Amino acid sequence: MSTVDWTADANDALTLSLVRAKEDKQVLGDEETYEEFHPAFTYPIYGEDEKIYGYQDLVIDLRFASGSLAQYLSVRYAEKLDASTTVDNVEGILKEFIPPDYDTDEEAFLSRVEEDAVSFRPIGKLIHSYTRPAPSTSESTSATSEAVEFEVYHATWKDPGFREYHRRMQLFILLYIEAGSYINEDDDAWEFSVLYEKRKRQSGTETYHFIGYSSLYNFYCFPEKLRMRLSQFVIIPPYQRHGHGSELYNAIYNYVLSRPSLSELTVEDPAEAFEDLRDRNDLKMLLANEQFMQESFGGEVVSHSGGKVRKPKSRARATPMGASSGTVKGKGKMGPPVDKAWAEKWRTQLKIAGRQFQRLVEMLILMHLD
Ligand code: ACO
Repeated sequence: MSTVDWTADANDALTLSLVRAKEDKQVLGDEETYEEFHPAFTYPIYGEDEKIYGYQDLVIDLRFASGSLAQYLSVRYAEKLDASTTVDNVEGILKEFIPPDYDTDEEAFLSRVEEDAVSFRPIGKLIHSYTRPAPSTSESTSATSEAVEFEVYHATWKDPGFREYHRRMQLFILLYIEAGSYINEDDDAWEFSVLYEKRKRQSGTETYHFIGYSSLYNFYCFPEKLRMRLSQFVIIPPYQRHGHGSELYNAIYNYVLSRPSLSELTVEDPAEAFEDLRDRNDLKMLLANEQFMQESFGGEVVSHSGGKVRKPKSRARATPMGASSGTVKGKGKMGPPVDKAWAEKWRTQLKIAGRQFQRLVEMLILMHLD
């Protein structure tokens, strides 16, 4: 007799998607951006072993309206065990982590998607925008060959509607950041940067589609400034590896640079992939700063392609602040040894955290070793 397995993998069962209005689907060719995707983690919701007991062919269909992030939840299965004590209450558990106003009626949700596509506008202040060539799809029309715009908005709890919006998007932190947790809504020190894809409709109106966000925390920094700590950062899977994370990070960095009250940008407990993204973008920024590079290497700057910056593979040969074992090209302040007062002047001016600046200096030295 074959034994039936009543245990489902919660990461496989939970199926996420961002749903666009009908008109917006047609413009894109109905592929790519509507794909279903799965969480990296569900242990904060369904427990350490990320298993759900009591169902066969379980699907937890959690959909979001692509811009407003209004939610729809449907739990489906082929069979359910008839033992109320041991069977997991799939919806009851998830309910604790999402706002209570989700739809369970598909038609109602789809009408909400249509309405929100017209009425939803990002909350907060626009701080950065950029474009990318439109993806070519089999159903491309002349409208799709235009570049696609992306916008980053900066918001706080004070922006009307943002608190409710944050309650809808914070689930992505639990699902994608290891050890991620919900933040305290009563703490006024939080700020947010949210990234959207912006599409023009044939009628000329615009629609916005959520891509990712970062939560930032203001710390007091002696004697009179604030330090901005990047605390949570997520780009949803359909948009990963297209440079959007880099754009969001650079938007936040430039925001910090532009605000006189902020002394530096720090990062809380970065995941390896984020550390990599930060290093690449910080290095690119330094390499593009002509005055810094001139002072660092006395004019003999190693050429680099404007687009992609490769981090040096190993940092083993350099010691902190550049007492390296090789010879650095050029005769600049980059040493060895690095002129510490000079380095600190640049670090403060560029608002980079101390340890990160040291790492960047080491990487630059390695890139310029003979
Ligand atoms: N085509 C193909 N690849 C590209 C393109 C492109 N057009 N543009 C960039 N890439 C590559 C980059 O070179 C990079 O490659 P590498 O990893 O081999 O170096 C890679 O894509 C990632 O760079 P981005 O695209 O700029 O970053 P992305 O948008 O994928 O975001 C992130 C990275 C934030 C880590 C994302 O994967 C994510 O959200 N992961 C899950 C959550 C997470 O780990 N968050 C960070 C936690 S740490 C914290 O919160 C402080």
